[in-house]
Amino acid sequence: MITELIDKIDTGDELSPSEMGQLLEVTDDEQMQLLFDCAYRIKEKYVGNVAYFRGIIECSNICVKDCFYCGIRKSNKNVERFVMSEDEMIKEALWAYENEYGSVVIQSGERQDIEYIEKIERVLYAIKEKTNNELGITLSLGEQTEDVYKRWFDAGAHRYLLRIETTNPTLFKQIHPNDELHDFETRKNCLKLLRKVGYQVGTGVMMGLPNQTTEDMVNDILFLKEIDVDMVGMGPYIPHKDTPMGKVVAAYDNEQKRKALELALRMISLVRITLKDVNIAASTALQALKHTGREAGLKAGANIIMPNVTETEYRPNYQLYDNKPCTDENSSLCRGCLSKRIGGIGETIGFNQWGDSPHFRNRRK
Ligand code: 5AD
Ligand code: FES
Repeated sequence: MITELIDKIDTGDELSPSEMGQLLEVTDDEQMQLLFDCAYRIKEKYVGNVAYFRGIIECSNICVKDCFYCGIRKSNKNVERFVMSEDEMIKEALWAYENEYGSVVIQSGERQDIEYIEKIERVLYAIKEKTNNELGITLSLGEQTEDVYKRWFDAGAHRYLLRIETTNPTLFKQIHPNDELHDFETRKNCLKLLRKVGYQVGTGVMMGLPNQTTEDMVNDILFLKEIDVDMVGMGPYIPHKDTPMGKVVAAYDNEQKRKALELALRMISLVRITLKDVNIAASTALQALKHTGREAGLKAGANIIMPNVTETEYRPNYQLYDNKPCTDENSSLCRGCLSKRIGGIGETIGFNQWGDSPHFRNRRK
């Protein structure tokens, strides 16, 4: 049965939603491997076996939102809040540039105040200037107005990541406070605005959320296809002890970790199989479930890795979920460690390149 579906993919036929669901539910090791290998063939054909690095700068954990799953939510009083200075942000971007990363992601908790908007804008101009316009910049700074998205785009950012988290509006309501700040339609609309402004747009979901069904995840994939994304960033949901959801869902035992990882990997494979020429991140959360989780992500069809380039002193305060890896390591250690990991699975690293998704180029033809 599974081999028939794999044959179908290999011959270039599209899967029906129910066939996608069947593959998402495969748990037998050998069958799962067939799925991963099939996705890897598609990855090699459409995007090659080069992993691109995006140095991630987690520049502040101050957040106006209160998502029930997230460790840096506004109401969590157990986090020490920090904000990097402009100089620190620029320094980290330059470190990434000098270390041949090709591009960076600037991420923080969400803020919509004008001081913050202007600060980001100044940092963008400065990074562009100091790197001769060579360093690519992705933003992951949440929901903003069209005007703000445009200001940051004009200042030099060219990609934007905003996860939809889940495309099931009922589930979205269950994992967020029920207020205007956490509105599914607003978030969906932000993705439209980002595209309109001219960004390469990335979105994605969490897998393994409480009450999330296989059908939900199939719909997530169909949504990604429908809105024609350039990049996908998804990851397993991992409970954080100081959050409302983490208080209901106990910390994962080894069996739950294994299951959560396998589901996330199957989802990566199905997104690769369905969307083909997009960039897909092997999220850091994979490595919170198993120390070789990110390599497994690449083997299942992902092609982007986001090494942390944040100063070590800030890392422990940016715990979105429990057991986030690399919180004691510095940027050089992560560079060396990840390079070895990627070399170990026979892939090369696309140093000094932006590594835009072929989908973005094809879409603009
Ligand atoms: N588990 C997994 N991912 C999480 N994120 C936030 N909290 C968690 C968690 N507990 C993810 C969200 C968000 C991204 C920055 O981090 O998907 O969009
Ligand atoms: Fe950070 Fe291995 S990737 S230490």
